[in-house]
Amino acid sequence: MEIDVFTLFPEWFSWLSQQRHVANAIAAGSSLQCVDFRRYTPLGGGQVDDTPFGGGAGMVLRVDVLDRALQAHYGVDPVQLRERRRVIALAPAGRLLDERLVSELAQEPELTLLCGRYEGFDERILEHFASDVISIGRYVLSGGEVAAMVLCDAVLRKLPGALGDERSALEESFSEALDGNPEYPHYTRPAEYRGWSVPDVLLSGHHEQIARWRAERSRERGEQLGGGR
Ligand code: ADE
Repeated sequence: MEIDVFTLFPEWFSWLSQQRHVANAIAAGSSLQCVDFRRYTPLGGGQVDDTPFGGGAGMVLRVDVLDRALQAHYGVDPVQLRERRRVIALAPAGRLLDERLVSELAQEPELTLLCGRYEGFDERILEHFASDVISIGRYVLSGGEVAAMVLCDAVLRKLPGALGDERSALEESFSEALDGNPEYPHYTRPAEYRGWSVPDVLLSGHHEQIARWRAERSRERGEQLGGGR
């Protein structure tokens, strides 16, 4: 998978690229590239934003700046670009990122992520350049970068070779294998600690009973969260 991140803070992503599963995904052929869109601004002094029409606090990312940056990077009108690759703007009011959406995005060969700052994007960027607007939760971050990192982390760990053990991604929280429920509880040594013991069934070596116990715990947790699938 090829991921391009349009951001004013490209250096933030070098930390992400060094994380084990991201580095593994990159070694296995994926790419995580950043484009500093300030480089392409047609305005003086590296300006990328402006005051909102109608007044109000904060600054808004300009549509002409992102138009120019996307055109320059891809050599195609961004209005057409979104027909051939997912162009995702990160914004608090977008579609909520969940495991299903992460799995959907992990099937894509290419993603472009647009990180807003300040008060956010000029609405015409979302209307005409983005194929998706995605939110990582109903709270406001100071920009889209952290949200883009969350998305990259969740998507890249789904790719073959990213995790040391492929089984980790198969039977984890919200996966098909668990009917969309959260994962069951895990325990490791010591079997007894400060009087807190590990459930007997997990020490029994009885695989069927363990599988049944795990499925029940997972289902219970799903019910507590308001139902899996
Ligand atoms: N940008 C600012 N807040 C955000 C959020 N919650 N999700 C995605 N992008 C954002």
